[in-house]
Amino acid sequence: MTDIISVIAPINMAVIKYWGKRDEKLIIPLNDSVSGTLDPKVMCAKTSVCARSAFEEDELWLNGIKESITSERLQNCLKKIRELAIEQKSVDEEFLKFKVHICSENNFPTAAGLASSAAGYACLVTALATLYKVKTDISALARIGSGSACRSVYGGFVRWYAGSNPDGSDSIAKPVVDSSHWPDMRVLVLVIADTKKHTSSTKGMKTTVETSELMKHRIQVSVPSRIEKICEAIVKKDFPTFAELTMKDSNEFHAVCLSAFPPCIYLTNTSLKIIEMVHYYNNICGTIKVAYTFDAGPNACLYLLEEEVPKMLSVIKYFFPFSSEDFIKGLKAPPIKEFPIESHIY
Ligand code: ADP
Ligand code: DP6
Ligand code: CO
Repeated sequence: MTDIISVIAPINMAVIKYWGKRDEKLIIPLNDSVSGTLDPKVMCAKTSVCARSAFEEDELWLNGIKESITSERLQNCLKKIRELAIEQKSVDEEFLKFKVHICSENNFPTAAGLASSAAGYACLVTALATLYKVKTDISALARIGSGSACRSVYGGFVRWYAGSNPDGSDSIAKPVVDSSHWPDMRVLVLVIADTKKHTSSTKGMKTTVETSELMKHRIQVSVPSRIEKICEAIVKKDFPTFAELTMKDSNEFHAVCLSAFPPCIYLTNTSLKIIEMVHYYNNICGTIKVAYTFDAGPNACLYLLEEEVPKMLSVIKYFFPFSSEDFIKGLKAPPIKEFPIESHIY
């Protein structure tokens, strides 16, 4: 009998989006990206792993449904961890022959543009590395599962450097500031649709790189001009600058998606109404108090400071009077938190 390892990991919400790879297999991005990691107590993936002699096959269960174990990314993660275990002699040879069962659940919509792949793979590789007792850079391992997952390993604001080495060894994530740096930063998550997106992030970014002319401008001009500025705004806690860059990057990202052929359309009418609502509110305030950002899906994330949360909630209720209680997932306004990944060994 072996231990069951259970781990929870948070989502992260990009403010400068990763979109496009220069190496599909190694998952190396075309551009640097920056995100905030949310408190895992509100939205998280929880993954349990266990290896037994009685298991006949490796298995993956996601949200109660048995998934194919043959996915290349999952296999790459498993293979890498088992290789490290052999190299480091961290477990005995008998244990290495055991098959592993992986069971994961997200407490928020999966594949709906709320970074489930980030939380999911950060969680999966942390759990497996703990099970096989290997010492390694968890963030680099998470990256080969899903690019955005490399940022979920750290708290606070995190920058993922694209790097230039062909093997991806310098394509790593690092915290921009100490995770306790901006304690009054909050994120409200507005859930518009909890259904699976029609075009996965992986496929959407591939089509965009292959077909979009605007993408070249984004990679060569826009992102480089924003990335240092947003890191500086985070360091200085300059909310209006941070917010303006966040909204501009989200808007450009979706414009670029629309310029792919066939186009990738992730925003819905409700998403557009949220964009209007935020600009309306900022306009009344005379300064930028709230920033929206949308990943590859219709669901909105609003970055704002704690003091703005009650006011923004009233504005949301005014604009969306018939929305259900579930609409605002971030009612508890998760702070960006210090130690995002919690590991429990039972
Ligand atoms: P999202 O916007 O939610 O990140 P993606 O298209 O990037 O959507 O990725 C969704 C895919 O990520 C799922 O179809 C599944 O393969 C994988 N995934 C999501 N959650 C988990 C999890 N908890 N454990 C393992 N894999 C997961
Ligand atoms: C829009 O990390 O999900 O959320 O690396 O192919 O698994 P793969 O894609 P994924 O892409 C995330 C795209 C994004 C922006 C971001 O998180 O930076
Ligand atoms: Co994803």
